[in-house]
Amino acid sequence: MKVLGIETSCDETGVAVYDTDVGLRAHAVYSQIALHAEYGGVVPELASRDHVRKLLPLIRQTLDEAGIALDELDGVAYTAGPGLVGALLVGAAAARSLAWGLNLPAIGIHHMEGHLLAPLLEDEAAKPPFVALLVSGGHTQLVDVKSLGDYRLLGETLDDAAGEAFDKTAKLMGLPYPGGPQLAALAEVGTPGKFKFSRPMTDRPGLDFSFSGLKTQVLLAWKASDQSEQTRADIARGFEDAVVDTLAIKCERALDAAGCNTLVVAGGVGANKRLRAKLQTMAEKRGGRVAFPRPALCTDNGAMIAFAGALRLQAGEHTDLGVHVTPRWDMATLTAM
Ligand SMILES: Nc1ncnc2c1ncn2[C@@H]1O[C@H](COP(=O)(O)OP(=O)(O)OP(=O)(O)O)[C@@H](O)[C@H]1O
Ligand SMILES: [Mg+2]
Repeated sequence: MKVLGIETSCDETGVAVYDTDVGLRAHAVYSQIALHAEYGGVVPELASRDHVRKLLPLIRQTLDEAGIALDELDGVAYTAGPGLVGALLVGAAAARSLAWGLNLPAIGIHHMEGHLLAPLLEDEAAKPPFVALLVSGGHTQLVDVKSLGDYRLLGETLDDAAGEAFDKTAKLMGLPYPGGPQLAALAEVGTPGKFKFSRPMTDRPGLDFSFSGLKTQVLLAWKASDQSEQTRADIARGFEDAVVDTLAIKCERALDAAGCNTLVVAGGVGANKRLRAKLQTMAEKRGGRVAFPRPALCTDNGAMIAFAGALRLQAGEHTDLGVHVTPRWDMATLTAM
């Protein structure tokens, strides 16, 4: 089954073709970062308009790269939520129209289910039951996955998401938007232990997170410092270590709580090198394993939507012809496949 996947929930236009026989055939992402940079964050109306401009050429390009004609497709999957309503509608309308014109089944996919399943796309050994750590710009969640589609929330952030904390911390030390990846790059040359920040909410039981206090700790340290390039890197390293340690401690607790030994990590922060290494060590120590998508498939992309769509279409699901999106959508309401 060859499925076209379309992702337009926020500021990335993503398109991919997933083939259940051979895997990912092609994927392309167009990022709107430059468009939103001068505003310091995503402007929803500009995002929608840019998806309108970029989506159809990106679909043509991806089909060309996959070497597939439109009439060879067996289904279309698109992100139906959560996300920005206007941005979601662009992808949903294009996907629905294509499916109608080609007489194909189409399916609306939950964006976070897409992220959650991305580690399984190229790792056949990763199968439920597992615990998923979703660490992105908008989410930090630990999810107990007993079977595909059956998602039980174990814990989540009470304030900022981990990616949001990276971005805000980068901003307050003067790095341009979106600063998360740049902060991580700076941390590479920072001295470990020079700045020590707390590991929030690890001193008590529970699986929830809180990252908003960390940025205040960083702000105070930054203001009191000489604000040199090296200090910025040292603070970045201290911040990254605090986030990574906190995530690792809670992941280990979640594996214990769920009684399983497989961890699956997804979302943009999953591209973080130190987080990947730390979780790998933690999982190996307990005789378990951890699965990550390749870094390019950690952030928003069409491949994860094509893959989740293929799984649901194969399970016999599809959604009706209307163009519906769900900007706020609880993943626990999804049905098992
Ligand atoms: N190497 C890295 N280290 C730390 N954070 C990173 C790294 N690369 C990306 N990020 C962070 O990942 C986030 C983007 O990830 P992603 O695209 O999955 O989130 P999103 O789609 O905006 O959020 P959501 O999926 O929750 O709606 C940003 O906050 C960015 O700073
Ligand atoms: Mg995302």
